Amino acid sequence: MRFDILTLFPEVIKAYINESIIKRAINNKKIEVNVVNIRDYTLLKNGQVDDTPYGGGSGMVLMCEPVVRAIEAVKDKDSLVYLLTPQGKLFNHGLAQELGEKTKHLILVCGHYEGFDERILNFVDGEISIGDFVLTGGELPALVILDTMSRFIPEVIKEDSFLNDSFRDGLLDYPEYTKPREFRGLKVPDILLSGDHKKIQEYRDQEKLRVTKEKRPDLLK
Ligand SMILES: C[S@@+](CC[C@H](N)C(=O)[O-])C[C@H]1O[C@@H](n2cnc3c(N)ncnc32)[C@H](O)[C@@H]1O
Repeated sequence: MRFDILTLFPEVIKAYINESIIKRAINNKKIEVNVVNIRDYTLLKNGQVDDTPYGGGSGMVLMCEPVVRAIEAVKDKDSLVYLLTPQGKLFNHGLAQELGEKTKHLILVCGHYEGFDERILNFVDGEISIGDFVLTGGELPALVILDTMSRFIPEVIKEDSFLNDSFRDGLLDYPEYTKPREFRGLKVPDILLSGDHKKIQEYRDQEKLRVTKEKRPDLLK
């Protein structure tokens, strides 16, 4: 799957994708990530990409021309294009899975300042929000979406780790423990040290239900 991230701050995106699991996924050609600087697509002097809002008010608004030209430069027949905005469809496990199934090429456009000129909505497939709060820019939302969707791509992470992820079967993941066996009087459950894989699996299945009931009873409805 290919991701194009359109931003005014390419270095923010590059810093994240050059580390850990996402870096390995790119090197192993499981995903392709192209970072595009929206400023490269302005036709105005001094790299101008924003201007004051019509009707007055504070802040700056991203202009149509550079954003739409940047989208058109990377878009093809397989692309889906989303603006990152706090007003968009709420991103969650379900939307990540749905997008992953139907998309070969995802273009994510990061806003900044006061956001986008409303007319840009005519050139995209929709808006995505990562939550009911307002960030200073779309770079973190773009990375949240890229990272989440990459986990669905075969061989980006180990399959058994993906299969047990929270939300995958509607439940939260079971609790994990590692060495030492005892920390400040807190012991690892005996069953996990028993070596009986059938019993461990049964215990973990029960734990998934217990933890979900306790932390997110809404998921069981
Ligand atoms: C300060 S925000 C603009 C907020 C806009 N004035 C509003 O209240 O709807 C600047 C940019 O950050 C990004 N952003 C902020 N919060 C976001 C969220 N919850 N989800 C996705 N993108 C967000 C968007 O790209 C947005 O254009």
